[in-house]
Amino acid sequence: MADKPHLNLVIIGHVDHGKSTMTGHLLYLAGAVDQRTMDKYAEESEAIGRGTWKFAWALDKLKEERERGVTIDIAFFKFETAKQIYTIIDAPGHRDFVKNMITGTSQADAAVLVVSAEKGGFEAGLSAQGQTREHALLAKTLGVDQLVVAVNKMDTVDYSEDRYNEIKEEIGRFLKGIGYKLENVPFVPVSGIEGHNLKEDMGKTPYYKGPTLMAALDGFKPPKKPTDKPLRLPIQDVYSISGIGTVPSGRVETGVMKPKDNIVFMPSGKTGVVNTIEMHHEQIAEAQPGDNIGFSVRGLSKKDVRKGEVVGHQDSPPTVAKQFTAQVMVMRHPTVIAPGYTPVIHIGTNHVACTFMELVQKTAKGQTEKNPDILKNGDSAVVKMVPVKPTALESFKDFPQLGRFAVRDMGQTVAVGVIMSIDEKA
Ligand code: GTP
Ligand code: MG
Repeated sequence: MADKPHLNLVIIGHVDHGKSTMTGHLLYLAGAVDQRTMDKYAEESEAIGRGTWKFAWALDKLKEERERGVTIDIAFFKFETAKQIYTIIDAPGHRDFVKNMITGTSQADAAVLVVSAEKGGFEAGLSAQGQTREHALLAKTLGVDQLVVAVNKMDTVDYSEDRYNEIKEEIGRFLKGIGYKLENVPFVPVSGIEGHNLKEDMGKTPYYKGPTLMAALDGFKPPKKPTDKPLRLPIQDVYSISGIGTVPSGRVETGVMKPKDNIVFMPSGKTGVVNTIEMHHEQIAEAQPGDNIGFSVRGLSKKDVRKGEVVGHQDSPPTVAKQFTAQVMVMRHPTVIAPGYTPVIHIGTNHVACTFMELVQKTAKGQTEKNPDILKNGDSAVVKMVPVKPTALESFKDFPQLGRFAVRDMGQTVAVGVIMSIDEKA
């Protein structure tokens, strides 16, 4: 399994549009859920007269196990095709999914937008409270450019070609409006329950000539490991381990770290030399992007470093910003945003209060406006922002992983953003 390319997939879409069922069934067809487990859930769900829930159950059971078994806070599942290996990031209609998608350990390389064809269901997803638009816009804002649309629950509309075309047109218009190139976005008519067009075409949509869902996934390009970029490693935790000393841990986002490297923690500026690097309780000679590691630094005290700092090499230290310009999308703010607003932003493993200093320009419903007074839900805007204290962050174009953030207020994600430029360094 080691040599195949690997992609992180996020499954998005409105609540109840069948994400869990479709994903569970896909995992089963890919051989990632064994037959005995599936039989057990089939039996249990049939016993309560809900036989069709077996796939969602299998997935949710797996999720529970994963959540118990690992220390990270998002559930993930792996499956592989003949061509590629996929890690699925589960994105239920759960409101914290947005934050997880940004700050979680896995970042999406591609997205599957699940849209129900069911009468009323499709319409609900596109309503003002619906998540179909919101999730798609979010994926696009966060730089997830590879997308496939699964037009799901086609069994509920007798696999109607008219309904398929209606959905394809309406969703297509919206996706085009937010910047997706439609020629690269397959719209696959599927049934998560019956399995049509998940792995195999069961002949129910003769009008559709495109790939099955699995074939569409195999059409996605795997990301290139950013090993040639400067090292960036946001600190997730700092441990004290007897006999070893202070061990900061986190995931390498870009670049490579080796023992004996001269490193610096930003914004504190604390320097040190890497002693040993561990991954999965084994010492390794080199840590690469995607690796979750712990590393010891001689002479480092636990007080010297903290979660949220970013590690780089001394000759190419992480950027510390006093002011930056971001493209911000407002999703769910209870009122409106005006200059001076200072919520907490989550970026990398850090969270820091940050002031919306100047609203430079906004785009709403295709119209742009210079220096608006306020921002409302659904607005996308260019904003000059000032962290209340110097913070390690990067522009999205240089380091996508450290150039996107979630804006949190009153326990929920009210906006997301990507950093276009660092205007003033500390
Ligand atoms: P959340 O996680 O709550 O956002 O929902 P979800 O998108 O994961 O949906 P889930 O898979 O839980 O399915 C919701 C309901 O739709 C369940 O009752 C499923 O049995 C039903 N359902 C899912 N897929 C299909 C399908 O392809 N055809 C039909 N007829 N029903 C489906
Ligand atoms: Mg679900």
